[in-house]
Amino acid sequence: MTDYREEILDVSSFPKDDCIALVEAFNNRFPKKDAYMSFDGEFLHIMLIQLDMVKYRELLDELNISKELIDRAFDIINSIGSYGLKGKKRRFSGYNAERKVVNRKEKEQDRSKHYYANDNNFSKVNNELPSEYENKIICADSKEFLKKLPDNCIDIIFTSPPYNFGLDYDNHNDTAMWNDYFDMLFAIFKEGIRVLKYGGRFVVNVQPLYSDYIPVHHIISNFFIQNKMIWKGEIIWEKNNYNCKYCSWGSWKSPASPYLKYTWEFIEVFCKGDLKKSGKKENIDITDEEFKSWVVSKWSIAPERNMKEFGHPAMFPENLVERVLKLFSYKNDVVLDPFNGAGTTTVVAKKTGRRYLGIDISEEYCETAKKRIDDSDSGQQSLFD
Ligand SMILES: C[S@@+](CC[C@H](N)C(=O)[O-])C[C@H]1O[C@@H](n2cnc3c(N)ncnc32)[C@H](O)[C@@H]1O
Repeated sequence: MTDYREEILDVSSFPKDDCIALVEAFNNRFPKKDAYMSFDGEFLHIMLIQLDMVKYRELLDELNISKELIDRAFDIINSIGSYGLKGKKRRFSGYNAERKVVNRKEKEQDRSKHYYANDNNFSKVNNELPSEYENKIICADSKEFLKKLPDNCIDIIFTSPPYNFGLDYDNHNDTAMWNDYFDMLFAIFKEGIRVLKYGGRFVVNVQPLYSDYIPVHHIISNFFIQNKMIWKGEIIWEKNNYNCKYCSWGSWKSPASPYLKYTWEFIEVFCKGDLKKSGKKENIDITDEEFKSWVVSKWSIAPERNMKEFGHPAMFPENLVERVLKLFSYKNDVVLDPFNGAGTTTVVAKKTGRRYLGIDISEEYCETAKKRIDDSDSGQQSLFD
């Protein structure tokens, strides 16, 4: 039997009578074996196997209900990108049946999902972040400072650690021996995991150092997995710029040792204890369109262009943080960045109605972060300009 594909439309802002009329008309017009709708008072659940989109349009145009509801109800199905064709109908489910795994759910259970994290000892008791640290930028070494925080008090960590590329930071040596570098990183990540709530997310933006042949993203992922964090997935941040300006002239057009170039960085997402993060519905701030587009895990976002202005050599752009925070956290959540730099994570946390704690070892960067936050307060910076 083919499973229905479910689309959910938030219709809480439309008159309930309109929603009911739409559901009734839809269910009268189309056979249940093809598609059906239901309404739970807030959301429209659209269950799809196959649908004739021309007939669907005709049906919607006949209805005497909110025009915006009609458009939204049409668009949500029309914008589904993957479907097969069966006669005049779009087939939304089972169209690639030859590739479909029989008894997929049972087989998943047999294999044991995220087996490496299932015997964790994480406490499920979450704590409040002490108020003295709420909405603060702290100048400190995160390795020491994080020890002051209680267990399980942070909802989401989003960070971009120094990459050990030899950049000119204010007071961090960015050319350590790789072993020392990873020792420093893992000591801070370990504390990060401890302070993360059960169900919290740890999101790390990393760039491997290709010229040293160090797959930093794999080494980091391995660390998190060893520490019982569930790997939720990986986002490719496509920056559309090359990681090196030069050509490997020594091996030009030769298989001897061609140097691979990359135009992207990685964002690794880990969960503590549970893939699901609970939160209040009214604190969800991602739109339908954003959700649909951002769950496709290749994000094309230009690098930060204002690094000179902020005096920091390795910032990420605000749009990137906005996506991570809206996709993986709720409004009012507590956001931590233990390598806060010029404060991008904390500024966006503030702009999107989250609480924040940013830590950086440089006094200068902390001052910049505080100023950006103050400017966003005074309306000097509009939201994501
Ligand atoms: C890649 S930058 C982060 C930039 C930030 N994402 C932004 O948009 O501004 C890494 C930061 O880590 C800081 N850092 C290095 N070691 C640290 C430590 N032990 N504790 C806290 N911050 C540290 C550096 O000063 C630097 O600002």
